[in-house]
Amino acid sequence: MRELGREMATGALQDARRLCDQDQVFTLQGREWHQLAGVVGSEYNTSTGLFADWLPYAGAASMLEMGCGCGVAAVTGALAGCREVVAVDINPHAVASTKLNAERHGVGDRVECVESDLFANLGPDARFDLVFWNSPFIDGDTERADGDYFADHFFDPGYRLHERFLTELPQRLTEGGRAFLGFSSAMGDADEVAAIAKRNGMEMRPFRSESFSVPQHEMGTAEVFQRAADERGEIVIDLSLVELVR
Ligand SMILES: C[S@@+](CC[C@H](N)C(=O)[O-])C[C@H]1O[C@@H](n2cnc3c(N)ncnc32)[C@H](O)[C@@H]1O
Repeated sequence: MRELGREMATGALQDARRLCDQDQVFTLQGREWHQLAGVVGSEYNTSTGLFADWLPYAGAASMLEMGCGCGVAAVTGALAGCREVVAVDINPHAVASTKLNAERHGVGDRVECVESDLFANLGPDARFDLVFWNSPFIDGDTERADGDYFADHFFDPGYRLHERFLTELPQRLTEGGRAFLGFSSAMGDADEVAAIAKRNGMEMRPFRSESFSVPQHEMGTAEVFQRAADERGEIVIDLSLVELVR
């Protein structure tokens, strides 16, 4: 539901600008992680931890984490046995955080951290057994100042970024390679992303999902929350890992 996602992301972005303006360390999956100033983390780590736990790393020798943020999935993949992991983000503070986290957890030699707009700075022949992006799945936008990467964490106006990602994705997978998006049907528009995937020869299939309910009054007073609430006055939000199958 786009309007719910837009409202939630607008609030989350304001919080992130306030809370993520200094270096910090957070704990997730029993490990400590660096989060440098300028990268979103803090209370938004629920999806980060779930998706990093659910990804099927077994058998993947190479992995790409697109939009790595603090690199939790990239480092988890390396620790699970992926020998060559590439972690990419357009946000230089995210790339630096991921580098620190790979070193902190003893996999600095297996995780290459690259500042890049999607695949742009990867070698033309780079292919991966596992590709994952916990994507900015809210189709909306906000004002953006130079050097402020917070909006990129949440928003993809018109799903133009998803379009570019899904167009190039098939060429970036090895023959048996698998690709996953972290998404939410409650906040994003799964039908629209599935249609983009289909245009690029892929089917979007559910892989694993978890839902939680929040009482409407805890979300705020905006009308959009009333419209999104069920008969119990609860808003149900899913965090879903979906597979893009060729
Ligand atoms: C929802 S966040 C996920 C962050 C992290 N992987 C996690 O799970 O916590 C989306 C990430 O995509 C990155 N991103 C947005 N646009 C990008 C682009 N054009 N190229 C690469 N990364 C991008 C953002 O900077 C952000 O780190």
